[in-house]
Amino acid sequence: MKKILVTRKLLKECEEKASKMFDANLNSNDELYSQNNVIEMSQGCDGILSSLTDKMDAETINKLPESIKIISNFAVGFGNIDLEAAKKRGIAVTNTPDVLTDATAEIGILLILGACRRVPEGIQGAKDCNWKWSADYLIGKQLTGARLGILGMGRIGQKIARIAKSLGMIIHYHNRSKLSPDNDNGATYHDTLKSLMSVSDVLSVCCPASNETINLINKETLEYLPKGAVVTNVARGDIVDDEALIDALERRKVYAVGLDVYKGEPNLNPGYLKYKQAFILPHLGSATKETRTAMANLAIDNIEEYFKTGNCKNKVN
Ligand code: GLV
Repeated sequence: MKKILVTRKLLKECEEKASKMFDANLNSNDELYSQNNVIEMSQGCDGILSSLTDKMDAETINKLPESIKIISNFAVGFGNIDLEAAKKRGIAVTNTPDVLTDATAEIGILLILGACRRVPEGIQGAKDCNWKWSADYLIGKQLTGARLGILGMGRIGQKIARIAKSLGMIIHYHNRSKLSPDNDNGATYHDTLKSLMSVSDVLSVCCPASNETINLINKETLEYLPKGAVVTNVARGDIVDDEALIDALERRKVYAVGLDVYKGEPNLNPGYLKYKQAFILPHLGSATKETRTAMANLAIDNIEEYFKTGNCKNKVN
């Protein structure tokens, strides 16, 4: 039986499945393992079921035992893993696409609604019993007719586009490649970020974090937005330069932000906390029972498939 290290606690039925299929070293206390812990604990293992909280950089990967043949990441994103370093060591890296698209798109829409409709202020007012209905109380931005700019039109971006369109938003997107007319659902393609941002009343960041996208939303690019735009991020914190976004909030260049992801999670730039226009969530994108179950099961199945066939359809390196 193959032996695997599971770096984070999974939902119970998924841990049961992992233990049936493998000699699985589970993390029942859900401790956050250091990089050294991961290296030590993977001695004698054939694979690692990692999560986005594990920083698998080149140094860590190079110190993994020879026996490790696969790192199966319990996430669609794999910015936490140095793919090249893994490839050089002959270690396959896999992810969990598709199964989290719907749940993550739901949070993407929630970020848009929460930021546009002043939800943080509304929650505070209701909790404090410090409000009265009036014609101009907490007037927000209506989505109907507003232009939504989607940065990264992959599975999650496309799902957000479909829901937003049903809410009456007009969809624009920027992506490495233009979608075929069968898939674009009437959305307008922009071949540059500048062109997309200049028509985005609301921006939804949906692209993966990579060398090309780190700090793509920065002082310079934020200026492309119309004044009073809303910026949301359901992808990865690394894509946004926080200081620049906080400054744009301060200057009212940006009306509100909706964020689920941050640089250096679980910390976030404390600058956001000063703004009632910041609708912030703690990385809830895929956090439903159905989705977390499906993700963990897929991460387990990816390991099984790799050991059975020497390949895996969700291999990313
Ligand atoms: C969640 O953020 C994921 O990448 O799966």
